[in-house]
Amino acid sequence: MSRSAWRFRSFGISRVWFLGLLLAWSCSAPAGETLRARASALSPVPNLEPDPTNRVSENLSAARFGQALFFAPGLSGEGELSCASCHQPEAGFTDNAAVSLGNEAGQRNAPTVLDSAYERWFFRDGRADTLWGQGLQPLESSLEMAGSRTGTVRFLLARPDLRKAYSEVFDNTLESFDAVQLPEHARPVFGEAGHPHALAWDALDPAVRANIDRVFANLGKALAAYERKLVSGLSPFDLWAAGEKNAISVSAQRGFELFVDSAGCLRCHSGPRFTDGEFHNLGVPPRGGGSPWDPARFEGARRVRVDPFGSAGIHSDDPEGDRSLATRTLRVSGEDWGAFKTPSLRNVARTGPYMHAGQFATLHEVLSYYSTLEGAMTGGHHAEQTLQAADLTDRQIDDLVAFLESLTTADPPADLLGPPASH
Ligand code: HEC
Ligand code: HEC
Repeated sequence: MSRSAWRFRSFGISRVWFLGLLLAWSCSAPAGETLRARASALSPVPNLEPDPTNRVSENLSAARFGQALFFAPGLSGEGELSCASCHQPEAGFTDNAAVSLGNEAGQRNAPTVLDSAYERWFFRDGRADTLWGQGLQPLESSLEMAGSRTGTVRFLLARPDLRKAYSEVFDNTLESFDAVQLPEHARPVFGEAGHPHALAWDALDPAVRANIDRVFANLGKALAAYERKLVSGLSPFDLWAAGEKNAISVSAQRGFELFVDSAGCLRCHSGPRFTDGEFHNLGVPPRGGGSPWDPARFEGARRVRVDPFGSAGIHSDDPEGDRSLATRTLRVSGEDWGAFKTPSLRNVARTGPYMHAGQFATLHEVLSYYSTLEGAMTGGHHAEQTLQAADLTDRQIDDLVAFLESLTTADPPADLLGPPASH
């Protein structure tokens, strides 16, 4: 080999070395400033807008009343379950179960109530479009609290403290029941005209029914006023986005870069809450195997349009507003079959198991699914064509999990995490 050829080769080798080093460096330390600029576009979560459909959404007495209701077991049919049974403050306002155990075993995983006031649609299938209307559904669901609107009115009537709170915040409708003998349970039951609750409901005077509905809607509005206080604070990710260099680990920084770039997560988990608020079919196989059976948004979109406690309904305080317009003009298509709401990823490390039926126990399992889409049920049911296997290495999965863990925040103030002091 001639000297010059050797020199040429050695130059070539050192150049390869140098490029290799550069590559290794750029992989381990994501380009700091530009990445943080992207982070600051996703942080912090803005303040909550007032809810025009709920005239007491900002009312402190209503929030306090709602807080008492949230923790009151007497609201359920059997008097044993409260909202807090499945949305436990110490468990990130979830129950950490795959699917919730209410009056009967449920079919869906309980999402957190923290920050739920920011949601555009409520429930995993979006079958409610107001926070106050949402809370009324578990009260009457046989899977959840198995109560009835009439039962809740009776409960308020029997509790002098709550009765007083209701009258102070709302109106004197409760007094109208003094002269009426209310059945223990009565409510409309969709599709089951012969249900004992439905028969009792039909037997009531229409004026009494209207008053029951009025109190029931207001109860939801008080619950919502409380839930609106359950907003999360800053996470390590927010501190990092604001310029605190070491607030999150280098692994979490690499995870964030993957999240916004090559892994494609931002497409659906967009904005400061990391959700587009819309519905997608990821093809996650049902719990226990078999074919997908949950119609999800296909059913939810149909139900939200006829919800009497929705934004366009007679109990709404803004029936002509933007929200109700969107609901009234909502279209349902075959694409909605099996599509679930994109969950916010804030506090996600606290809210496992994951997906609509708790199919995955850990964030690692979720990421392994996104990596390979192994077992995805794409056949037949219009599964979204846009989701592609992210093809992640083990280290990339660890990095993404580290990033998701950096979205955990402190709890709301302690005085909101149990029944209000005087109740
Ligand atoms: C038996 C357990 C259980 C009880 C009791 C319960 N929930 Fe839930 N909650 C769930 C489950 C499960 C879901 C998801 C159901 C679905 O998407 O179909 C849910 C959904 C929600 C959501 C929607 C969050 C979102 O992101 O869309 C809110 C808010 C909520 N519940 C508040 C309440 C309130 C208020 C009460 C009391 C009136 C209550 N829950 C009682 C289990 C429960
Ligand atoms: C096509 C839209 C879409 C993309 C892309 C997407 N997600 Fe999701 N994500 C969703 C939907 C929808 C759900 C809920 C699915 C369900 O309930 O069955 C979800 C659920 C999750 C959950 C579980 C949250 C919970 O509370 O159960 C995590 C964690 C998550 N996604 C992280 C990611 C990450 C990380 C990426 C990128 C690798 C990503 N997602 C890409 C739409 C998407």
